[in-house]
Amino acid sequence: MKILVTGGAGFIGSNFVYYLLKKYPEYKVVCLDMLTYAGNLETLEDALKNENFTFVKGDITDRDFVFDLFSSEGFDVIVNFAAESHVDRSIEDPGVFLKTNILGTQVLMDASREYPVKRFHQVSTDEVYGDLPLDRPELFFVEDTPLHTSSPYSASKASADLLVLSYFRTFKLPVTISRCSNNYGPYHFPEKLIPLMISRALKDESLPVYGKGENVRDWLYVEDHCSAIDLIIHKGRVGEVYNIGGHNERTNLQVVKTILAELGKPESLIHYVTDRPGHDMRYAIDPTKIKEELGWEPETKFDDGIKLTVKWYLEHKSWWENILNGEYQNYFDKMYQDR
Ligand code: NAD
Ligand code: TYD
Repeated sequence: MKILVTGGAGFIGSNFVYYLLKKYPEYKVVCLDMLTYAGNLETLEDALKNENFTFVKGDITDRDFVFDLFSSEGFDVIVNFAAESHVDRSIEDPGVFLKTNILGTQVLMDASREYPVKRFHQVSTDEVYGDLPLDRPELFFVEDTPLHTSSPYSASKASADLLVLSYFRTFKLPVTISRCSNNYGPYHFPEKLIPLMISRALKDESLPVYGKGENVRDWLYVEDHCSAIDLIIHKGRVGEVYNIGGHNERTNLQVVKTILAELGKPESLIHYVTDRPGHDMRYAIDPTKIKEELGWEPETKFDDGIKLTVKWYLEHKSWWENILNGEYQNYFDKMYQDR
């Protein structure tokens, strides 16, 4: 079995590479990644020592390059993680989101038709459903909740989902889609809420909480996302969408306060800043379908996962300090100076 993992130098993709190499020592795993600001080869340092793993630097929107790669490698399964993934950046500059997330997905699917694969799996997000109101805790996203996007990021992911389903219906491409809630864990780029707060609190810097901090996210430990995708690519039904989430809803303020308590830092570091435009209020997944069809259940509860994550960031300071000392610092200054 030869699996192409696109975006495997990013947060979830790299965790999935390690998950595959550990669980299936006989599989060949190829990572295709352009190494944008979010991709980091240092993350794959251990994988690169494994003879069943190959890294290829390239852009999923580069049709000739992608077709050549598919022709020479002959993949069985494609798992597409490659994307622009940060909502705030999509508000600043939507164009690259449309290019990578929609057109890149099209190129990968066209190559999968030309050089047939057993499965094309699209890694999507619960953000395609828009948001739920805070005063209706009984509501959850199910697979046929209408798509109702709020940000250029989520609109680009929803567009890609529609394109993927159209390739199933029209061309019989054997696709599956997963829509997961917010992930956290090792190798999470420190522009996202949890690693941003851990890395800043460790340096006693202020913690920028958008609005009142009452927005709710449904947090899933990244390894549980990996195990769900593993089940879907091996046992999921083609043409189907699977929601992934583990009923771990927290307000942003609860998350930040948990991190502060874990690190023994004062809540006075919290600094309320101007809200994100179009900020989604609540995400919450109903995972009944993947549980009943594929027997998936998350293993890590938020209170345990956040401890593991804080420990990982304490033990891997050089990984995130290298990022913070680089080009990322300019982004932070630009994004937060006037808030
Ligand atoms: P990330 O930003 O950490 O990583 C994205 C990776 O894609 C990077 O390594 C980057 O270099 C690569 N990439 C970007 N553009 C590329 C291109 N044109 N060609 C090749 N590689 C390119 O993102 P992540 O958080 O790991 O998310 C991975 C996927 O999972 C995304 O599709 C995202 O929409 C989805 N997702 C993320 C979450 C979450 O909480 N992070 C939740 C649900 C779904
Ligand atoms: P983020 O990690 O960007 O994920 P997403 O927007 O895809 O859910 O943000 C998670 C939540 O944290 C979201 O409600 C926005 C909020 N947030 C802050 O309050 N401060 C910050 O500096 C960041 C990056 C996010």
